[in-house]
Amino acid sequence: MSGSKQITLLGAKGMLGTDLTAMAVKRGWSLRALDLPEFDITQPEHLERAVSPNSVIVNCAAYTNVEKAESEPELAEKVNAWAVGRLGELAKRAGARVLHISTDFVFDGMLDRPYVETDIPNPINAYGLSKWHGELALEASGCQHCILRIEWAYGRHGVHFIKKLMEAVHSGEPLRVVDDQVGAPTATTGVAEVICDLLEGDFPEGVFHFAAWGYVSRYGMAQFIFDTLEMPVELTPCKTADFPSVAKRPLNSRFNCKKIKGTLSRSIEHWKDTLAQYLET
Ligand SMILES: NC(=O)c1ccc[n+]([C@@H]2O[C@H](COP(=O)([O-])OP(=O)(O)OC[C@H]3O[C@@H](n4cnc5c(N)ncnc54)[C@H](OP(=O)(O)O)[C@@H]3O)[C@@H](O)[C@H]2O)c1
Repeated sequence: MSGSKQITLLGAKGMLGTDLTAMAVKRGWSLRALDLPEFDITQPEHLERAVSPNSVIVNCAAYTNVEKAESEPELAEKVNAWAVGRLGELAKRAGARVLHISTDFVFDGMLDRPYVETDIPNPINAYGLSKWHGELALEASGCQHCILRIEWAYGRHGVHFIKKLMEAVHSGEPLRVVDDQVGAPTATTGVAEVICDLLEGDFPEGVFHFAAWGYVSRYGMAQFIFDTLEMPVELTPCKTADFPSVAKRPLNSRFNCKKIKGTLSRSIEHWKDTLAQYLET
């Protein structure tokens, strides 16, 4: 890893953090893994202890409950924005670098093409707004940083679309899935691999979009899952507007990943391939 002696991972027990911890261990890195309850990113003294001189900090810690964020936006802002800005300020002072994870939810999903890094964010829910504010706060801190936006993540740990789908199947209710939200289901193992690859080269500065290759609707993704698992589930397509939800969701979550592709020495796998591997295990 060029120039860095130690990696500190914030949010190490989360869905992405768990896979990143495993990947870093596999690569023989020296990793300081921090998460609640011992480490609270909103506690200034915890942050001070986390930022060592010249280190690299990967921030996977976040308030990620999209629905709940609507009723507690202050907490979402504190974790996803204020704390990220403070982290940046401390990193600037210590000469540390920050790789921060962000989301497609910074966009409104109204564009008729995949989003590039220079598209202007316009979040449509409290979670997305707090994540965008986090990006802005990190940029304003002046520390050396990289913002990696990801989307439609799933992994072995944590709550995600596939787990919710399986729960719905087991409840025996007829299944309706939206066919007007489009994105790329992206395995957190793949994200972890990309983070490790990025950090093994020169520290990548700026904003990057990363997602698995190809796109699909939520309905198409559900169909693929049931076909792969040979589960005879009756599935009906519906629209986002038919679903009562507190938080609005972007319809277009497609990322253009050309920029990050240019920095990686491996190709980006198609969502079908990684999802099939995930379902196998
Ligand atoms: N999942 C997705 O589809 C998706 C899509 C786009 C972007 N992202 C971004 O990817 C990153 C990782 O997300 P994830 O899916 O791995 O989420 P996650 O499973 O919820 O992981 C977040 C971790 O941060 C911890 N955390 C929450 N509040 C904290 C605090 N005050 N101090 C320290 N740690 C705290 C959580 O602990 P608790 O579990 O105890 O709260 C959890 O361990 C986040 O930045 C998220 O915004 C995720």
